[in-house]
Amino acid sequence: MFDLRQFAALAPDWYERLHYHSELNSTNDEARSLAEAGAKHGTLVLCDHQTAGRGRRGASWICEPGDGLLFSIVIRPTFAQANWSRIALAAGIGVVEALNDKWAIGAQVKWPNDIYIQNKKCAGILTEAREDFVVVGIGMNVMSAPTPAQGGARIDAVAVADMVSDTISREMVLATLLKSILNEVDACAMDFGFQLERLKKHCYLTGKRIKFNANEKNFRGLVCGVGSDGALLVEVDGVLKSFSQASEISLS
Ligand code: BTN
Repeated sequence: MFDLRQFAALAPDWYERLHYHSELNSTNDEARSLAEAGAKHGTLVLCDHQTAGRGRRGASWICEPGDGLLFSIVIRPTFAQANWSRIALAAGIGVVEALNDKWAIGAQVKWPNDIYIQNKKCAGILTEAREDFVVVGIGMNVMSAPTPAQGGARIDAVAVADMVSDTISREMVLATLLKSILNEVDACAMDFGFQLERLKKHCYLTGKRIKFNANEKNFRGLVCGVGSDGALLVEVDGVLKSFSQASEISLS
């Protein structure tokens, strides 16, 4: 069970806006319901176990109780909806920089929304927007990563504790992440250029050959970086192309 007392001592201001449940279908669904009922910007939903935790593009998110963090934050953007796609990238930067500042573990953003450490996935971010709010949902392997038997076989996974020699706890990791995530999300309206500079530094895919799907077509190419709008820049058949969306990205 998540230790609420430990968390309250580490992050008292976040404890005040925490909605904790031992079990939910999905923290994103609960955060959406709260937002629809008027929950404020920065409302936090956390649970120990999800019965229907989901990832992007219909994938499920597997996490045994006690192994990881499952949480969602309600965001009420005060900038144009056309720029809301920045929120997911900003959240990823917030996660990576919080982990690296605290533990120097070389976390990277696998564009657009995965967090990788040493070539393995440590966390995923699922943002879901409605008319006047966005839910940022994050699943992170903290104490241990799911095994193939638990359904975690699709890609190599790693947990924060695998990389850190100090004793850590889920409470400590969550308290470390939250301020950084919300600061970056709040800053993305005005400071997206600066965030992109940092994203370039943290980009796991830059310099790697990948295969991926975009606009229902399969591509292969060399990743050259991230463009000024946050899109992935890939050299495909000798031509530099910009992809604002892509899925099924893997190294080739
Ligand atoms: C992905 O890697 O595809 C994104 C995974 C996001 C999982 C988190 S767990 C907390 C929140 N609630 C959900 O149902 N999904 C997100």
